[in-house]
Amino acid sequence: MPNDDVILAVDTVHATYNHAITALHGVSFELRRGQILALLGANGAGKTTTLKAVSNLLPAERGQVNAGTIRYDGSDVSRRKPGDLVRAGLVQVLEGRHCFKSLTVEENLIAGGIGRSGSRAEINGDLERIYGYFPRLREKRRTLSGLTSGGEQQMTAIGRALMSRPRLLVLDEPSMGLAPIIVQDIFQSLKKLNRETGLSILVAEQNSAVALRYADHATVLENGVSVLAGAAPELRQREDIRAFYLGQSNPGQQASPATKPAHLHAVA
Ligand SMILES: Nc1ncnc2c1ncn2[C@@H]1O[C@H](COP(=O)(O)OP(=O)(O)OP(=O)(O)O)[C@@H](O)[C@H]1O
Ligand SMILES: [Mg+2]
Repeated sequence: MPNDDVILAVDTVHATYNHAITALHGVSFELRRGQILALLGANGAGKTTTLKAVSNLLPAERGQVNAGTIRYDGSDVSRRKPGDLVRAGLVQVLEGRHCFKSLTVEENLIAGGIGRSGSRAEINGDLERIYGYFPRLREKRRTLSGLTSGGEQQMTAIGRALMSRPRLLVLDEPSMGLAPIIVQDIFQSLKKLNRETGLSILVAEQNSAVALRYADHATVLENGVSVLAGAAPELRQREDIRAFYLGQSNPGQQASPATKPAHLHAVA
């Protein structure tokens, strides 16, 4: 029987691309309603593939789930079109902060609400709510997104997802390429949203330090398998996790944003 407290249940998922390349071979985790779950792992561990499987987006990339199940709100996502899942409240912000660069920040946000039927007053209410969580977006509302900073574009992408009124927000590496101070800002806004509205959040991150600070629970992926899971405060204590699972002992990955020492950027 599905557990009502669990909004997303991923059970022993296997996935391939082009019927040949195995990306996942045994990913399992559960996200409880109103919680933040971090999906951690090094480059190529399978984070993005997992998130795409959750939104049933793999077929669009010649990928497929070959085994295992993913249930959102108790129903199997593989039977539902990605658009239906969005209408059911499962909304994803893809890797790389996609915005329409030639639209203003506010036009980008409004575009996020188009799929749903909403009066102008309702849309204005949602915009106000989003500006409340991301005040920088209010300041930049009339600026073309292409002229805003990377952090503001990430906030715009998140804001646009919020216009669909998600119940489960899925984020793929929101910290990527951003200065630590902006990353903190974004995670603080996400945490506030989570606390004040009960929004459930699944966030994939290479930046385990920041993700573990804001998440309730975390699951670590290694080579397409979930190898470790636990409460975020407990995982945060364990140095070995960083060393063994998150690629931080691998000299080949020192240039990635996750492994750059934060103190190089944090102090202005
Ligand atoms: N479209 C694709 N076609 C074929 N193989 C892919 C595709 N996307 C990902 N893969 C492979 O699947 C595996 C998992 O990749 P995935 O992108 O899910 O990892 P990730 O954890 O998101 O990595 P990163 O931190 O670099 O974003 C990798 O071996 C990758 O090369
Ligand atoms: Mg990825």
